[in-house]
Amino acid sequence: MASSDGTLRLEGKVAIITGAASGIGEATARLFAAHGATVVIADVQDQLGEAVAASIGLHKASYKHCDVTDEKQVEETVHYTVEKYGRLDIMHSNAGVLGSVEGVMDMDLTQLDKTLAVHVRGTAASIKHAARAMRASGTRGSIICTASVAARQGNLGPAAYTAAKHAVIGLMRSAVLDLGAHGIRINCISPFGVATPMSCAYVGKAAEGVEDLCSEMATLKGVVSRAGHAAQAALFLASDESEYISGHDLVNDGGVTMVNQNNLRANK
Ligand SMILES: NC(=O)c1ccc[n+]([C@@H]2O[C@H](COP(=O)([O-])OP(=O)(O)OC[C@H]3O[C@@H](n4cnc5c(N)ncnc54)[C@H](O)[C@@H]3O)[C@@H](O)[C@H]2O)c1
Repeated sequence: MASSDGTLRLEGKVAIITGAASGIGEATARLFAAHGATVVIADVQDQLGEAVAASIGLHKASYKHCDVTDEKQVEETVHYTVEKYGRLDIMHSNAGVLGSVEGVMDMDLTQLDKTLAVHVRGTAASIKHAARAMRASGTRGSIICTASVAARQGNLGPAAYTAAKHAVIGLMRSAVLDLGAHGIRINCISPFGVATPMSCAYVGKAAEGVEDLCSEMATLKGVVSRAGHAAQAALFLASDESEYISGHDLVNDGGVTMVNQNNLRANK
């Protein structure tokens, strides 16, 4: 929904969100559209993606099949967006997979490559082609990458996933200078556990079980971590309210990574 004062914070802007057929990306697509943006939902789950676009309204959203591990498909998605809507203001590189869950000593390196392909190769392709389109049109755009609390500490996710998310932060930091020369901003959001198909698969529990676990780990009590919190962080970074912010990792984790979990347990 729009701000309490009715302000549309993304009016007239055009956004691509990868991985928007589900979870955090879907919540972000709905919030961006509610704030006046036109949204391209880029994903590999075609039926779900089409359904999300239709429920937002086909005058405000469309679905484009895009496997982010394939650079050509990312480039085509950017071209499709610029041709259909005339511009690209926001790229939210959000697609992700849990990947293999083994520790480093048992790691299957083929599975590691697959995890890195989605998170790292996919993010690099999304930054590259969005920034090129923004530069070509002189658009002072905003690029947002979904990292994670797993980019801050070890063992908040599987090893391959943790490595991939650290690399996402590295890509974002590496792009600040190049993109900044063209007035393009780039930032990350780093959510803590949100009940989505990915986190439910990791924890092996239904949504309620994931929420209970995350609430137990959270320092900030009385609020349940939801996809909408990540979407609000992305909205801020996408909007002109953050026009002087670039190179930032906006951690939205209820303080989880600020405390020693041993102290938290001892304080119970
Ligand atoms: N759920 C959490 O607890 C949590 C916490 C921190 C960060 N994240 C990150 O948030 C992002 C979204 O995850 P989510 O939790 O909403 O999970 P999700 O499974 O609900 O959504 C992930 C989406 O990415 C899509 N996707 C996967 N591979 C793709 C590919 N190759 N090309 C295009 N799309 C692809 C999936 O089809 C799916 O729609 C991911 O980057 C994830 O790592 C999630």
